Amino acid sequence: MHDFTSTVVLANAARTIGIVLGVLLLLVFAIVIAFNMRKGRAEVGSEIELAANRKPYLDDDELETKKLDRTLGAGLVLLAVIGIAFPLYWLAEPSRQTNAVSAFQEEAVARGENIYINAAQCASCHGPNGVGGVANYTITDPATGDYVAAVSWRAPALNTVMYRYTPEQVTLVLQYGRGFSPMPAWGSLGGGPLTDQQLADVIAYLTSIQLPADQSKAEVQAELDKTCGADAAGNCTVADGAYKTLGEAIFNLGYADSFAGGAYSCGRCHTKGWSYGKAQVPGGGGFGPNMTGGSEIRQFPTAAQQIAFVSAYPKAGTSYGVQGLSSGRMGSFGVNPNAVDPKTAIMQPDQVMLTQDQIAAVVAYERSL
Ligand code: HEC
Ligand code: HEC
Repeated sequence: MHDFTSTVVLANAARTIGIVLGVLLLLVFAIVIAFNMRKGRAEVGSEIELAANRKPYLDDDELETKKLDRTLGAGLVLLAVIGIAFPLYWLAEPSRQTNAVSAFQEEAVARGENIYINAAQCASCHGPNGVGGVANYTITDPATGDYVAAVSWRAPALNTVMYRYTPEQVTLVLQYGRGFSPMPAWGSLGGGPLTDQQLADVIAYLTSIQLPADQSKAEVQAELDKTCGADAAGNCTVADGAYKTLGEAIFNLGYADSFAGGAYSCGRCHTKGWSYGKAQVPGGGGFGPNMTGGSEIRQFPTAAQQIAFVSAYPKAGTSYGVQGLSSGRMGSFGVNPNAVDPKTAIMQPDQVMLTQDQIAAVVAYERSL
């Protein structure tokens, strides 16, 4: 409403200024004509004295030497200016364009940062710089709407979000939010307050804060050393540890201490209650499907097929396994989907959530459920 009125006011103001200018110009025009007519009437003397073309001009000697030389000289200088200035301008053209693009990009990132911190307060749940955090949430009964419990729900780290999702996938999450979780809808499609441009700005900001590959790898390894300390066979060696195998530890990465808000884990989507510390049947299904009772062995006849699926999650609408259809809601854990085509890549190929060995371990765990 406010925007609309101010546009109308602005448009009216521009129109008024235009009309005033037009009237002023007409007035000046009329005054000049009147002035000229008065001056013309005052003219005296013969036409020969007054007409410029009747005045004696320079003689041939002067015209063909000094005057000609000067004119030609000036032409040469101008030609040289054009000959040098144009190529210089063309030379600068590509960098001028890339500079413009990067300046544009920087502005988008700055706008996105402002949305992340202030306007939408993503940071209050996902942490400063997207390191992950928790959100206070009240669980209600989906059928009756009655209060069930007040919980602290892990909000996944977003400083690796472009490791696992394409911008389209992130846009989908932002547009509609995650139903039955604290993540609200932000886009107009889901009834949220942000415009498509603002969503694109937030994604530009998120892209700008992605961790370097080695930092993410080192953090995951340190966490796995703490929670599992796998031996060569992939069995955990940590005394009194919660997990038996490396695969189980990866599946539940960050369950106990909210490491990276659970971003690297599988349990946050595949185990009900995982995200608020009340994990029910491991892999029993939540936002993602149930994996128990040998269902993964039926879906993926070989482990290699399942590893490929978890590594590079298929595009929404494509089929996978024996009878799966991708909804676009999971992420890629072993291949960065934003680094596949070097021409359009916005990330590095080594910026991946998990190594191939880690994926093999977690797939083996899932196939055992
Ligand atoms: C009230 C807390 C809260 C706010 C505010 C919030 N989020 Fe979330 N967000 C969450 C939670 C919790 C999840 C995880 C939901 C789940 O368990 O599936 C999530 C999930 C996400 C995901 C999916 C990540 C993944 O790996 O699955 C993205 C992307 C995301 N949020 C981005 C944003 C952005 C951008 C903003 C600001 C515009 C924002 N969130 C604001 C709580 C919040
Ligand atoms: C953001 C939520 C989310 C996370 C995190 C997640 N998944 Fe999924 N996963 C899904 C959804 C949703 C599906 C259902 C397929 C679809 O919608 O495309 C799925 C499907 C699968 C399937 C196929 C299941 C079947 O029977 O069709 C496998 C295997 C799988 N996920 C493994 C993993 C592994 C391994 C991890 C952790 C490294 C993981 N997922 C993390 C959401 C998630």
